[in-house]
Amino acid sequence: MKQVKGFSKLSKDEKINWLTKNYFNDSSQAKQTLERYWNQDQKLQKLHDEFSENTISNYYLPFGIAPNFLINDELYTIPMAIEESSVVAAASNAAKFWLEKGGFKAEVLSTQKVGQVHFTSAANTEKLTAFFNEVQPKLIEEVKAITKNMEKRGGGISSIELRNKTADLENYYQVHCTFETLDAMGANFINSCLEQIAETFTREAENYFSAEEQPEVVMSILSNYVPQCLVRAEVCCPVEDLLPNKADAEKFATKFVEAVKIAKIEPYRAVTHNKGIMNGIDAVVLATGNDFRAIEACAHAYAAKDGSYSSLTDASVENGVFKFWMEIPLALGTVGGLTSLHPLVKLALEMLQKPSAKELMKIVAVAGLAQNFAALRSLTTVGIQQGHMKMHLMNILNQFEANENERQQVIEHFKSNTVSHSAVVEIIEGLRNGN
Ligand code: MEV
Repeated sequence: MKQVKGFSKLSKDEKINWLTKNYFNDSSQAKQTLERYWNQDQKLQKLHDEFSENTISNYYLPFGIAPNFLINDELYTIPMAIEESSVVAAASNAAKFWLEKGGFKAEVLSTQKVGQVHFTSAANTEKLTAFFNEVQPKLIEEVKAITKNMEKRGGGISSIELRNKTADLENYYQVHCTFETLDAMGANFINSCLEQIAETFTREAENYFSAEEQPEVVMSILSNYVPQCLVRAEVCCPVEDLLPNKADAEKFATKFVEAVKIAKIEPYRAVTHNKGIMNGIDAVVLATGNDFRAIEACAHAYAAKDGSYSSLTDASVENGVFKFWMEIPLALGTVGGLTSLHPLVKLALEMLQKPSAKELMKIVAVAGLAQNFAALRSLTTVGIQQGHMKMHLMNILNQFEANENERQQVIEHFKSNTVSHSAVVEIIEGLRNGN
């Protein structure tokens, strides 16, 4: 393949021509596929094109809704952007199940964000500490231009401290900062603050240290690990309310708690268990225009905080009461970023009654807990495939380009039979061969 220079400067058409000419046997077919996903509304298409670099088309994800989520006595319909067929159905089932049992309770425990200026210095720690104490007011003073608006609303920098990391890495220190960013996720705010802090720090250090001791800033960046930006979501009910039959309910609760205990101590299971939680979380995070990579990275780091990767959820049965809960760090925003730009994100936030970041933290945590409840409920009873394959049936039908008549007959057949890929193929082939 040919190397290309100055690609980002080409027009959208030129980019597509270059791509389709170089990488596809049937370039007009490839072009057509890309164009089918363009939006007819030119203004909307331009908006999407400008979200990123080198955009040539749009990549759709299904945008679904899960109604009946009772959270702290308020009813929500939760928007979910996700391609996996059974996720929204599972969320809706869990919502309905808990609706009749008092719903979900959620509480924000803390909202602290973190950022660090990483630097090296051969100066001794006492001298660095003395310098840091002296320069600290100036660091705060010079970042005021950036923080003043956030401060007016009650946020800003909460703390700045020097951290000695030389036991782990020679000459390595940090200016470790914590932030309150209110309804913003705060990445741009935090990074701008840190870069200003680094600049002041470096300038002030010039006359304080000898050439050999001079601190060298390696990088200034927020941390996506926010263990002090925590939300807790919970459901509970008497064990006997879990199922109509008391013995079944007790068995269900015992197996459910056992399944969580397994995910607590067994990383192979914990990863899948937490993946199921993230099915719910990512879908809402994406629908509300938040950064799902940041949320994912943080959640998994938090799941390993005690030294081995473990379940994010907990469950117990005590004194006849079933309790299922999760504490998870979620750095979310409901202002800034895509929130006022992407029409579907705006719609998703309006659907959620224009939540504050704290409210969104609760909603997202509940979506994760609900998803895990639905998965464990299936896994410990009928198994996951029954529901999964039922939802996947449409994908298989589409794959075989089934016509309306075939669809109806296949759907009817699988109302009372177990769906499997081969069973669907057999039925379709049977219909097509006139059997
Ligand atoms: C599938 O996307 C998610 C599950 O595997 C989660 C789980 O096993 O708990 C069903």
